[in-house]
Amino acid sequence: LAGTDTTDRQNTSEKNEQLEQYKADATNEALRSNQGIKVADDQNTLKAGTRGPSLLEDFLFREKMTHFDHERIPERVVHARGAAAHGYFQPYKNHAELTKAAFLQDPSKQTPVFVRFSPVQGPRGTSDTVRDTRGFAVKFYTEEGNYDLVGNDIPVFFIQDAIKFPDLVHAVKPEPHNEIPTGQSAHDTFWDFVSLTPETAHHVTWQMSDRAIPVNYRTRQGFGVHSFRFINAEGKARFVKFHFKPLQGVLSLLWDEAQKLAGKDPDYQRRDLWECIEAGLYPEWELGVQVIEEEDEHKFDFDILDATKLIPEELVPVIPLGKMVLNRNPENFFAETEQVAFCPAHIVPGIDFTNDPLLQGRLFSYTDTQLLRLGGPNFHEIPINRPVCPFHNHQRDGFHRQTINKGRASYNPNSIDNNWPRETPPAAAQGGFETYQERVDGHKIRQRSPSFGDHFSQARMFFKSLSAPEQQHVIDAYSFELGKVERQWIRERTVNEILANIDLELAKKVAMNLGVEPPAKGTVEVPQINMQASPALSQMSFL
Ligand code: HEM
Repeated sequence: LAGTDTTDRQNTSEKNEQLEQYKADATNEALRSNQGIKVADDQNTLKAGTRGPSLLEDFLFREKMTHFDHERIPERVVHARGAAAHGYFQPYKNHAELTKAAFLQDPSKQTPVFVRFSPVQGPRGTSDTVRDTRGFAVKFYTEEGNYDLVGNDIPVFFIQDAIKFPDLVHAVKPEPHNEIPTGQSAHDTFWDFVSLTPETAHHVTWQMSDRAIPVNYRTRQGFGVHSFRFINAEGKARFVKFHFKPLQGVLSLLWDEAQKLAGKDPDYQRRDLWECIEAGLYPEWELGVQVIEEEDEHKFDFDILDATKLIPEELVPVIPLGKMVLNRNPENFFAETEQVAFCPAHIVPGIDFTNDPLLQGRLFSYTDTQLLRLGGPNFHEIPINRPVCPFHNHQRDGFHRQTINKGRASYNPNSIDNNWPRETPPAAAQGGFETYQERVDGHKIRQRSPSFGDHFSQARMFFKSLSAPEQQHVIDAYSFELGKVERQWIRERTVNEILANIDLELAKKVAMNLGVEPPAKGTVEVPQINMQASPALSQMSFL
């Protein structure tokens, strides 16, 4: 649709209508080659005699086979397996006080969305019910362009700095020599890495909880994880953390159920999503934000730029923004679920980034990987990735280019072709994107902020917030997973240097299950935080 003018952006059928234009239905049509000639025989290759060798001349065979040979594209380096659905987002009211983002202004307006859920670690053929964090990626097709909220179903992340991501993923993936993890979903490389990287303690404790074995995708929360910014029309900025709360409730499996399902029905969760939508049981989530005034940035006993920390809802409640409904299954898995390209850098006016060093690295990584995965710089033209608003710019050519740009000039400014796309000042109605003018001052330095230094108090808060059976599940999960680790020193280090700092009882019980000497105390001083501050955590955990 690049180059067309569309004025009515008022309903969610917009993206559906756009996708309709790309559908090909060849039912009852003559079988033809890609060059359009009718095929007389699709059953036999061209041969020199009925029992003779096949001929290189057989262009129909070569075209068919070449296309088949090239059907696969690389799977995502993480989140390879996915299930997705279309739907819409509708705000409850006008949120102009918080943000000028157009899709959050008009309560009568629905914005089309496409949402993809995905376990992180396994390949495309992994099972749905493995113990893992799950992606929760939402593409809002707004009238101002695409906004992607690329979140997870766990509110914190493993690591604080993007430079550690390749190490984390190499440690979590099967081992390089034989592609086999030493145990089922747990192996020495993962536990080696996390026991040497204490910042992972909080996320890993969530992963050992029932949160990491959800019943299905409809009962998952979604979190933006990082602190982002909202900016209103007056230029006032605030920090925000995004939350999606499922109106179906939050439900988890038991480990025994998860394991059995993984073997008996690897598609259990994606089938559930598909069948519920086909049956008209549309899953719904409430999108909300925790809002932190700029002057309160440093008032917490953790750093809000540290993605291994959450902000307890007792301290900052979640303000509901609106509702998201998923009401249509994809038409074609490859064209939509596989080719969709989410990126945290896809933002719209009224939303901006923060200096979270994990987020900053993500802003680079997604487009970079998609240049390879989706074959060059024009993947924004793939139907599922196209914005519904008209878009024009001076980019041209490249692999898989679809748009035929009109005019003679593709640069800015120019005096030859008067029809060139021009910038829009930010102050104009529906103005151009303007980066929030945050003051930045510092030495160039490769060092973690000391405010990122406490790795255990929130992991402890999470563990303490759980009910007794939920705590037992965490003990069982640590024991099961570490029980698959072959190197004794990795088991001992995890118990002594990670678990004992989270909770001594947890460490002792896991140690006994593993046959490791139980620790007498932790190895670091863990700051005391208010342990009362946890009802929202435990409510979220298991319904
Ligand atoms: C997918 C990188 C952290 C959520 C991906 C992909 C890459 C990547 C390369 C594959 C994208 C594609 O092929 O289209 C990174 C890096 C991170 C990071 C470098 C840290 C430095 C996170 C965090 C979250 C997250 C913190 C959640 C808040 C997702 C999701 C997907 C994804 C949901 C799947 C998107 C889809 O469904 O297509 N990530 N990631 N990632 N990532 Fe991250």
